[in-house]
Amino acid sequence: MCGIVGYIGNKKAIPVLINGLSKLEYRGYDSAGVSVNENGVLKVIKCKGRLSCLEDRLEAEKLEGCMGIGHTRWATHGEPNDVNSHPHISQSGEIAVVHNGIIENYMQIKEFLAGQGYTFQSETDTEVIAHLVEYYYEGSLVDAVMKVIDEIEGSYALGVLCRDEQDMFVCARKDSPLIIGLGEGENFIASDIPAILEYTRNIYILEDKEVAILKRDSVQVFNSLGAPVKKEVFKVDWNVEAAEKGGFEHFMMKEMYEEPKVVRDTINPRIQNGELVLDSINITKEDIDKLDKIYIVACGTAYHAGVIGKYIIERLCRIPVEVDVASEFRYRDPLISERNMTIIISQSGETLDTLFALREARKGGSRILSIVNVVGSSIARDSDDVLYTWAGPEIAVASTKAYNTQLAALYLVALDLGLKKGTITKEQVNSILDEIKKIPSGIEEILKYKDGIQKFAHAHFNSKSIFFIGRSLDYALSMEGSLKLKEISYIHSEAYAGGELKHGTIALIEKGTLVVCPMTQDCLFEKMVSNIREVKARGAVVLAITQEKHREELEKTADMVLTIPDVDSLVAPISAVTPLQLFAYYMAIERGCDVDKPRNLAKSVTVE
Ligand code: M6R
Repeated sequence: MCGIVGYIGNKKAIPVLINGLSKLEYRGYDSAGVSVNENGVLKVIKCKGRLSCLEDRLEAEKLEGCMGIGHTRWATHGEPNDVNSHPHISQSGEIAVVHNGIIENYMQIKEFLAGQGYTFQSETDTEVIAHLVEYYYEGSLVDAVMKVIDEIEGSYALGVLCRDEQDMFVCARKDSPLIIGLGEGENFIASDIPAILEYTRNIYILEDKEVAILKRDSVQVFNSLGAPVKKEVFKVDWNVEAAEKGGFEHFMMKEMYEEPKVVRDTINPRIQNGELVLDSINITKEDIDKLDKIYIVACGTAYHAGVIGKYIIERLCRIPVEVDVASEFRYRDPLISERNMTIIISQSGETLDTLFALREARKGGSRILSIVNVVGSSIARDSDDVLYTWAGPEIAVASTKAYNTQLAALYLVALDLGLKKGTITKEQVNSILDEIKKIPSGIEEILKYKDGIQKFAHAHFNSKSIFFIGRSLDYALSMEGSLKLKEISYIHSEAYAGGELKHGTIALIEKGTLVVCPMTQDCLFEKMVSNIREVKARGAVVLAITQEKHREELEKTADMVLTIPDVDSLVAPISAVTPLQLFAYYMAIERGCDVDKPRNLAKSVTVE
């Protein structure tokens, strides 16, 4: 999604903006631009393509100003081209704007402004903001922005420069992330922390409808009524290195290598003296007894973690669980009551569909428990209880380590609820925790055989279509394996429940079709062996993933067997996903794809 950086200080703005934007590249973008105020003139340089194209243009045209805004655009309204790129400038060149989000009523505003004599250069929704700020501007930029945000509907993070205000700029947000970095004699805005971490660790997290004035030596924040707000400084406690590649060719590989650590970081602090302690979750036995249903709501990979969550919570807590894709949940008029709890899962904590689904659940009276990676994110702040996944910054668009930690967190939640409810004993909890503790070293072992996976990918990267089949937890795992492959290698792929294949899809299996079979569920192992025989009888090539103990037996049926160290079937998905991620990674590499920045995708999806 779009990335915003803004700067005011004593340095030249352009290098700071470009450096910041480069740290936001992971979010996905198709064009980039900057604007600086140079002695009362707003200069704008923007173009389609990568940041390097923008840098080439900036080489030719030196911009010297010490205050500016920058943007990477992920097209929503209008194709990616130079004109549609941000910043957008108002009719008389008074105002420059960068925007992340979608202005839903931009057509009405456009008509109104056209009636006032404004003409439009781009197809974007953002351009109306630039003109509207100019329309309202009567000597106070913040007042004009306040009036504009009263009128616009939808989501926005905004950075706004004014030609006549050379020592300040304004920012605002609603439903799209924006932070303010607090420096010494300089201040920043950004869509995400990595963009400014090199300069400061002190940040303000803007709340919805807050507006801020940034000057070199001060930041003032106001609520939607114009009253000053006293913000708390949030101290970032991770390093710049955590958001850099550290010698790996891609963030995705680096992040897979971090899986053992981040799973440990997510579980270890929650096991104290051998006991499960989730002190951030204040759900009592009475609260749990009251529940007649749990919803789990998320998008993409986080949704797939939620599907595993459904199986384990139902199994361990005997509470019915419905798992929903957030964009569907929002609009399907779900039957929510005070007897429900909704578990929201999100790495970024900013996914717009997920955030709005959370609000839908709350409106119906549901308690909200979120499993979130980014501390202080919108979803975390809107929840009753938050269990953080300590995955650290995840930069690659394809989510890897965050998924392992989401699963680990879901198991902890299921154990906590089950223990409080009395559906599982302390002994059962301890024995499951013992199995979970084996996962990090298990992943370390899996990472050691990555070269074998690369060889297999080398032999199969030309596949046109790949099927993933599994049963129970392995079906959920198949969905995640299939998504990973699709998003970074662009190979068509589908995930099916093993038993469902023969109801239609098996018609697509022909000689050489690759079928990937996660088989970590002991009680369904033989059923899956039968499914493998069915597809092999039709010419399929089978890659199976199972525990080491099944290797010998499975090698008789599958063409290639990848193993995970032996671990109880219940928790096996936490490590069994890693070979699937490695497989997707190497397939993408073999096909020459841009692994960390796959086409059309954004890391943090902050629009509908
Ligand atoms: O930040 P979130 O966990 O809310 O993001 C949800 C999805 O957008 C995300 O998991 C997406 O599917 C990833 N690209 C998958 O690798």
